[in-house]
Amino acid sequence: MNLLITGTSRGIGLEMVRYAMECGWRVFACCRHPHQADALLKLAALAPERISVHIADLAELATLQALAYELRNEAIDMLINNAGVYGSNQNQFGEVDVRSWQQAFAINCIAPLKLSEALCEQVAISEHKIIACLSSKMGSMADNGSGGSYIYRSSKAALNAVVKSMAVDLLPKNIKAVALHPGWVKTDMGGVNAEITARESVTQMFETLLALTAKDSGRFIDIDGSDIPW
Ligand SMILES: NC(=O)c1ccc[n+]([C@@H]2O[C@H](COP(=O)([O-])OP(=O)(O)OC[C@H]3O[C@@H](n4cnc5c(N)ncnc54)[C@H](OP(=O)(O)O)[C@@H]3O)[C@@H](O)[C@H]2O)c1
Repeated sequence: MNLLITGTSRGIGLEMVRYAMECGWRVFACCRHPHQADALLKLAALAPERISVHIADLAELATLQALAYELRNEAIDMLINNAGVYGSNQNQFGEVDVRSWQQAFAINCIAPLKLSEALCEQVAISEHKIIACLSSKMGSMADNGSGGSYIYRSSKAALNAVVKSMAVDLLPKNIKAVALHPGWVKTDMGGVNAEITARESVTQMFETLLALTAKDSGRFIDIDGSDIPW
């Protein structure tokens, strides 16, 4: 099975690469600064025939086009749009940092769509045909009881809308598109008080992804495969 994962320098993305390596899968591991991604490079050196490291800076759409061209002859079973940012902490009512909001929107919402557009033929010729976008419960309207976090919440809600439309538009190619919440995970973004480790999150997410069928396309799902209300 071939996977392409963005944001593999650390956190959930790095753990996905480690898990995939242990499973014997082929991984196109993407990050914005490969020369600074020491942990990823060490991992890739353990299985150089199965893990290749590629540049993909979600804030620079030209790098996504270059990546798609580089991989034009590859089948991609799972395109995992994992990379994401929380944005500035100036994100409460009355003080929202507009520049950070625009950057977060570009990285969390626009780039996953543009990368999916660029690679959809490679996904279409694969066996599993999955596009998974790492979303967040914080993008759920129904789950929002505490307000605030305008930047992150709105960019993930918009990503959910993108996933839903992709599910409809890519149906003729039999591609399944899902928005996936990874749990509250101990990473730089999730913080030390988070509920689960990256390994626990990744293990459950891959079990869920491998069990997807055509009727799951367009769903917003938790790591265990259950529905998250929009
Ligand atoms: N952790 C949680 O509890 C949690 C909960 C819900 C959803 N999520 C989602 O899960 C995904 C992974 O989160 P995480 O916890 O692993 O976050 P993280 O530890 O902060 O890692 C974020 C990853 O995204 C990459 N990234 C950031 N901006 C990028 C850009 N412009 N181009 C390419 N890569 C970029 C980072 O690369 P650099 O090293 O180069 O910065 C890093 O590899 C995100 O989409 C996040 O929103 C996480």
